[in-house]
Amino acid sequence: MMATTGGRARCPLHGPQRSDQPAALGSLSPVTAPAPVTAPRADHPRAIVVLVSGSGTNLQALIDAAADPAYGVRICAVGADRDDIEGLARARRAGIPTFVCRVKDFLTRADWDVALTARVGAYEPELVVLAGFMKLTGPAFLERFAGRTVNTHPALSPSFPGTRGPQDALDYGVKVSGCTLFLVDEGVDSGPVIAQTAVPVEQDDTAESLHERIKTAERALLVDTVGRMVRDGFTVSNRKVSIP
Ligand code: GRF
Repeated sequence: MMATTGGRARCPLHGPQRSDQPAALGSLSPVTAPAPVTAPRADHPRAIVVLVSGSGTNLQALIDAAADPAYGVRICAVGADRDDIEGLARARRAGIPTFVCRVKDFLTRADWDVALTARVGAYEPELVVLAGFMKLTGPAFLERFAGRTVNTHPALSPSFPGTRGPQDALDYGVKVSGCTLFLVDEGVDSGPVIAQTAVPVEQDDTAESLHERIKTAERALLVDTVGRMVRDGFTVSNRKVSIP
């Protein structure tokens, strides 16, 4: 479970990661202003928090990648909006602190948003990764983490936003779909696109078979792109995201 010290969560070791990390080693670039990139030292991986709602295969891909110090990422904590999901179990098996922040435990959605922001913020992550997190973050979260929260969507944005991406792609009859990694904004799957991978739609696909094919591409895209963002930094100008 999450360990806290004076209201600030510690990021204990997991895998090969080190315990003597500074809280931050320079900031990733903000969403609007291109800024110089500060590359992390190889022995000081950058802290990220991952939020999940389900099976957590994207999280697992990040956990596996982060086991290599050269990847440059330390998963500080994994949070969820529900209990008893495989995503949380994956984190626990890897020795990563977890927390659960459920909407139904708060009087209002805004209260939940503030609480989630505090739970994530306690780890002072440089990047937040929504990996199958099935809730829209709200104003408090965006005020603190906009520009450094990435989400992954199983369709080629701007097509088929929302929770039924693979089914909507099939229903439309497209021959190619895919996955999109984007920076979270106040909309639904509408933020600046960071990276995309196209995936063919087969004649006999179901939503499940298409989604599984997309998820294979999605995991590779997530690992590759998050690693490069964290190691090399990134800039955003007029919705165009650049990783040097
Ligand atoms: C991914 O396809 C993600 O894009 C979508 O839900 C799926 C999560 O899969 N929102 P997993 O929990 O990482 O296995």
